[in-house]
Amino acid sequence: MPNVTFIEFNGTPHEVEVPEGTTLMRAATDHNVPGIDGDCGGQCACATCHVFIDPAWIDRVGGRNSNEDEMLNFASGLRDNSRLACQITLTNALDGLLVAMPEGQH
Ligand code: FES
Repeated sequence: MPNVTFIEFNGTPHEVEVPEGTTLMRAATDHNVPGIDGDCGGQCACATCHVFIDPAWIDRVGGRNSNEDEMLNFASGLRDNSRLACQITLTNALDGLLVAMPEGQH
């Protein structure tokens, strides 16, 4: 069961544990983590699941897919480490993952 910590823009951490195969977006919404709405249900069509991947985890999480990259162009506060949480599937290899939410999402 991978463990993930979400950091709200105000610095409040939320640590959750989810079954392998859960998306990072669902990990947040299933645990009522503020700042991740997931309005489109994970279809890569809303960008309300925008997160910043902690630099130490970028290589393990991997890069954006092309749909995700397009959608993130509409997101505010885009950074090199921006990802859409619905496009990341959690495995035990990502146990301990740390992500932060942008200012517009709270
Ligand atoms: Fe809509 Fe991720 S939940 S883009």
